Amino acid sequence: MSELIGRPVDRVDGRLKVTGAARYAAEFPLPNLAHAVAIQSMIARGRIESIDTRAAEKSPGVLAVITHLNVPKLETTDPPDVSERWRRVVPVLQSDRIDHYGQHVGAVVAETLEQAQHAASLVRVTYAQERPVLDWGASLNRAYAPPQVNGNNPTDTRHGDIEWGLREADVTVDATYTTPFEHHNPMEPHATTAVWEGVSEALPQEARLTLYNSTQYPVAAQIVVARTLGIPEQNVRIVNPFMGGGFGSKVATRGHVILAAIAAKQTNRPVKIALGRQQMFTSVGHRTNTQQRVRLGAKGDGRLTVIAHESIMHTSAFDEFAEQTGVATRIMYECPNSLVTHRLVRLNLPTPTIMRAPGETPGSFALESAMDELAYALKMDPIALRIRNEPARDPESGLPWSSRSLVECFKQGAASFGWEQRQPEPRSMRDGRYLIGYGVASATYPTRTRPASARVQVLADGRVRVQIAATDLGTGTYTILTQVAADALSVAPDRVQVEIGDSNLPPAPPSGGSWGAASFGSAVHQACMAARTKMLTLVSQDTRSPLKGLSDTDLEVRQGCILSKQNSSLVETYQEVLTRNNLKELTAEVDFQPGAAAKKYSMHAFGAHFAQVRVDPDTGEVRVPRFLSIHAAGRILNPKTARSQIVGGVVWGISMALHEETHVDTRYGHFVNHDLGEYHVPVNADIGDIEAFFIAENDPHVNPLGSKGIGEIGIVGAAAAVANAVYHATGERIRDLPITPDKLL
Ligand code: MOS
Repeated sequence: MSELIGRPVDRVDGRLKVTGAARYAAEFPLPNLAHAVAIQSMIARGRIESIDTRAAEKSPGVLAVITHLNVPKLETTDPPDVSERWRRVVPVLQSDRIDHYGQHVGAVVAETLEQAQHAASLVRVTYAQERPVLDWGASLNRAYAPPQVNGNNPTDTRHGDIEWGLREADVTVDATYTTPFEHHNPMEPHATTAVWEGVSEALPQEARLTLYNSTQYPVAAQIVVARTLGIPEQNVRIVNPFMGGGFGSKVATRGHVILAAIAAKQTNRPVKIALGRQQMFTSVGHRTNTQQRVRLGAKGDGRLTVIAHESIMHTSAFDEFAEQTGVATRIMYECPNSLVTHRLVRLNLPTPTIMRAPGETPGSFALESAMDELAYALKMDPIALRIRNEPARDPESGLPWSSRSLVECFKQGAASFGWEQRQPEPRSMRDGRYLIGYGVASATYPTRTRPASARVQVLADGRVRVQIAATDLGTGTYTILTQVAADALSVAPDRVQVEIGDSNLPPAPPSGGSWGAASFGSAVHQACMAARTKMLTLVSQDTRSPLKGLSDTDLEVRQGCILSKQNSSLVETYQEVLTRNNLKELTAEVDFQPGAAAKKYSMHAFGAHFAQVRVDPDTGEVRVPRFLSIHAAGRILNPKTARSQIVGGVVWGISMALHEETHVDTRYGHFVNHDLGEYHVPVNADIGDIEAFFIAENDPHVNPLGSKGIGEIGIVGAAAAVANAVYHATGERIRDLPITPDKLL
């Protein structure tokens, strides 16, 4: 029996992608399509005083100009039971109020994109400005404690006595680390194409809206759009078969989606809106900047006596998003005295949002840099320091680990990387005129599985159809679900047809939080097993079947057939079973619920990063010729797509360490370097050899597939590994990202 799970199966959608046949949200060729362009605020705070659309309206090709003065009234309040921020209404253009630079203040709809862009440039807006609060440094004294932080995590946690822990320590570190504003920048822009059908004055509730919409969360997008527009949920359909990345920015439904729907209604045409790269810097969220004070203390042998991690982030003036910066610190190391706090500063900027491993990513930079500083202060190997403080149980909850292989990752990683060649003294390794440094850091990410539903159909020709309202960010959902279904029903992978990216399909959680493969996969697995049971019951009760009278336990499925375990000559194909019973398909649908194990075990993936840097002592230029990342994440469903996930995370971690930073114009609240020319993401020449490995880990507790999420862990700690290597190379401790050459000179 060929097990596909665990094999490096090629992406099943790879051919569609490289041939251009995969359709993205802005690529659906609809007849009579019109184009919308958003008009955005040029101030950070105030009111629209006047908005002159006359020139735009007269401009060639213009079909409509929509502003707060002529927009339909939208729903502005959420029902009381909205549990997730991603399900909140998005009432665009409902007043003259301006809350941030780049806020949508209108939209122009025209026959062509160019006509819409030109007309948008003709709209004249005047503002009554209010003084925006944009100075981060001057605002820190107004930091406040939010009620909780993202992921329903507590804002503050304390154990033992910090002061005692500091007094007990032989060696202490007290350092403040900062990380900048960062932006997601998926390759595919945020885009939506809106199509109405059945619109009539007489029966307004009959109108149906389809949105081809790049979203990580079709189920929530459907709800948000329906509620905001005041139409029944079942009349809204979100279609999103392919995505070119999202990284968290496409979990929430944003204003442009509503603008597209309104524009299409108003013009009675299908309307497409695709945000420009610059618009994406203000319209779809970003990663907050952080300031993090970390205090560590240890006995001379390296045992931690205290960990204190106090973070300050920003949120907007009109909404609250609290990055969970310190949450990973709560579970990383054994320590009797600990403090983890989160504070927020309100700025007149857009609200930050989740971005690949929100919390763990900036938080791990601070904690793992501080651990490195402590290792040098102790004159101890940084790996030995981490192993010395390995906790037997989750230090926060007291629960046993479902599995934790951090030490194994360090040991195997050190051997593969050649860590023993490192000379401990900073600035002691050279390659010609270049300074060489090695750095390590720990990685971790919580393992979560969420409820999901799935439908599986065995078709009359023996093929298998899988349906779930999941999405594939480009990372392998189609492939993983194909593997799961092919294994569960024992058919060849090319006999499995996976249908996702459609809110009409059985509901699923977002592709986010690294729970996609486990949640979608568990639901699909369960649905396949239900379909299998239905088929076995069918044959055993069918007097025309050679398998009649045999029970479930006497039967097995193999290569698209059902057969007797005792006598393999008693066999029939799925096709024969369905055809004889006049079935076009046999359907099973399940609602998968994660088990109760999450209450009994602490579930996290762990990993270790090893960075080698080469620093030019004259220019301060840092290169990363070699990086090794090793993770233990339960059962690896597909080593090929999993490796890509980790490599992608590491690339972003290197980029975070050396390149990425968005600058705010503190007069207008404008993200100044708002394009890929000035916001530096790494290109091929910036990235050296990256090796990514997994350690085999058998975790029976996490979920039915035994897999831990791997979408985010690759970036966690990666920037710290680079910063620690830079210290080792140069003796310069850079606590403020990114590590640009000026900081090393
Ligand atoms: Mo991820 S930031 O949960 O898309």
